[in-house]
Amino acid sequence: MIEKKLKINKYTLTNRVVVGPMCQYSGLNGNPSNWHYQHLGRLSLSGAGMLILESTAISKEGMITSKDLRLESDNNKKEFKKILKFIRSISNIPIGIQLSHSGRKGSSEVPWIKSNMPLHGKHAWKTYSPSPIAKDNNWPKPIELTVPRINKIKEQFIRSAKIAKDLNFDCLEIHMAHGYLLHQFLSPISNKRKDLYGGDLVGRSKFILEVASLIRKIWPASRILGARITGSDHLKDGINIKDSIYLSKRLEKIGFNYICVSSGGIQTKTNLNNKIKGYNIHLTKKIKKKVKMLVTSCGNLNDINFADNLIKSKKIDFVTIARNFVKNNNYLFQNKKFKRKIKIPNQYLRCIY
Ligand SMILES: Cc1cc2nc3c(=O)[nH]c(=O)nc-3n(C[C@H](O)[C@H](O)[C@H](O)COP(=O)(O)O)c2cc1C
Repeated sequence: MIEKKLKINKYTLTNRVVVGPMCQYSGLNGNPSNWHYQHLGRLSLSGAGMLILESTAISKEGMITSKDLRLESDNNKKEFKKILKFIRSISNIPIGIQLSHSGRKGSSEVPWIKSNMPLHGKHAWKTYSPSPIAKDNNWPKPIELTVPRINKIKEQFIRSAKIAKDLNFDCLEIHMAHGYLLHQFLSPISNKRKDLYGGDLVGRSKFILEVASLIRKIWPASRILGARITGSDHLKDGINIKDSIYLSKRLEKIGFNYICVSSGGIQTKTNLNNKIKGYNIHLTKKIKKKVKMLVTSCGNLNDINFADNLIKSKKIDFVTIARNFVKNNNYLFQNKKFKRKIKIPNQYLRCIY
């Protein structure tokens, strides 16, 4: 099953494995660098059915680090156009981009310089969140977003989505997970607002759903539109499966084509156990039962037989895999299920067979 084609709108993915987004913290003024050419070039030849580019900020303020990618300006557009031309010159893989705003996670040090560390001094910037609650000890308190600022962020999402549309990205994925701003609104851990954008689940999901509806209006129906969501905060008072089912149903109603179920990330430490195989599947399968749109998941799904069984037993429609494609970019070529079913570059044929 996993090796079978999957039709989504005007696209036919050649199989049911998607390369998930992976921040590289290697951008130059928000633009892809030489690093991205080799990284994405390699991933585009992995034989997967689709490739999603890393979390890309809708504004400077919405970046995690100053090295994030950003889709905001004409200059960003020009540079993304170049890298897309490059990838498309070597591969036919459908290409997506994940759009995000970091909220209180922003103004962060690049992780390999200092992990979980806010910037200090002149390079730091002010961060915003639904409520003035820091993401961890030693992190600055974000500024509570006013409604005019919320409206501005909606416009920024639209601006970036329009650029992605002009660039002919095949898929747009909105980041609503991993403690990014949209997740910060949904989670009662980070949203203590008393206005229309807070309170109960309906209030806390208002901003996400407004962004989702606005994007749906401008993103072409023939292309792919998805969202990465948090199935659970893995915290006593955080988002639970009922909340994520509610969000999924609403996204389906708005017209999203898929959701990718992830979890955790609203604060540095949660009770998520990400060591076990398919650690988000217990959440994913519950959501899948409640919606008709496509459902994928990420998190230790590298074992192709395991992933195949999940698809066969209708717990998931396709799998999203990230780290393993970096560890072993050619691993699908070597798997029995995919043998002679996926396109291996002619230049590599003699190496593989
Ligand atoms: C280096 C790295 C960067 C990541 N960047 C992103 C990102 O930009 N957006 C996102 O939603 N998830 C990101 N993730 C999470 C992955 O997409 C994926 O969900 C996670 O690694 C679990 O899947 P895996 O076991 O297949 O790697 C990142 C993970 C890694 C290891």
